[in-house]
Amino acid sequence: MACSESGGEEREPTQANAAPRKPRILLAASGSVAAIKFGNLCHSFCEWAEVRAIATKASLHFIDRAALPKDVILYTDDDEWSSWNKIGDSVLHIELRRWADVMVIAPLSANTLAKIAGGLCDNLLTCVVRAWDYNKPLFVAPAMNTLMWKNPFTERHLMSIDELGVSLIPPVKKRLACGDYGNGAMAEPSVIYSTVRLFYESRVQQGGSSVQPAGS
Ligand SMILES: Cc1cc2nc3c(=O)[nH]c(=O)nc-3n(C[C@H](O)[C@H](O)[C@H](O)COP(=O)(O)O)c2cc1C
Repeated sequence: MACSESGGEEREPTQANAAPRKPRILLAASGSVAAIKFGNLCHSFCEWAEVRAIATKASLHFIDRAALPKDVILYTDDDEWSSWNKIGDSVLHIELRRWADVMVIAPLSANTLAKIAGGLCDNLLTCVVRAWDYNKPLFVAPAMNTLMWKNPFTERHLMSIDELGVSLIPPVKKRLACGDYGNGAMAEPSVIYSTVRLFYESRVQQGGSSVQPAGS
């Protein structure tokens, strides 16, 4: 599946006079009803960053592709396979991992959480995560029914992804789309955006990245 990497060096070489570029944010949606907010989330990030997007098959039931910003490419599992024919062709999940400075999975479904925690990689999203370079930030914003959230598996899976280096943007309590009241609703897109941006910019200021904050 994933190609072996010949060069070893994955980052673009930093040149002393290189022009600052915008952060590259890879936004991914999995199959929670909260994916109806994915367009909104993409628009927020586009104000600050270059954005590419990934959607799982289930999330496509909730995403209005016409509502995404025009310059955001939305990749699906079909793209992973249609872009590869023979040895030497690029492998999409590796290319996206190389391209991104930060990955954000919002919403993160119970299913995709379980798959990441268990190391499974059977679609484009989970292949990027399995191939992720944890020197770069990876954020998740879970969204699920309250009882799914309270299920003992959730805590176990959250502990596993925490050990990997994944950062959690916790869900909030409210009346859920299914009618239940409780914890499990995805954090608001504005909160996800500001959490990621603050983290990224403070890292840049500490010299943790060659990328300059936009507008600097
Ligand atoms: C209408 C509807 C709403 C759903 N909402 C959620 C949800 O909020 N959170 C969740 O974890 N799963 C939810 N599911 C179940 C997931 O879509 C299902 O587990 C799916 O396999 C997730 O696939 P993915 O993780 O590959 O995107 C919902 C299913 C349906 C039919």
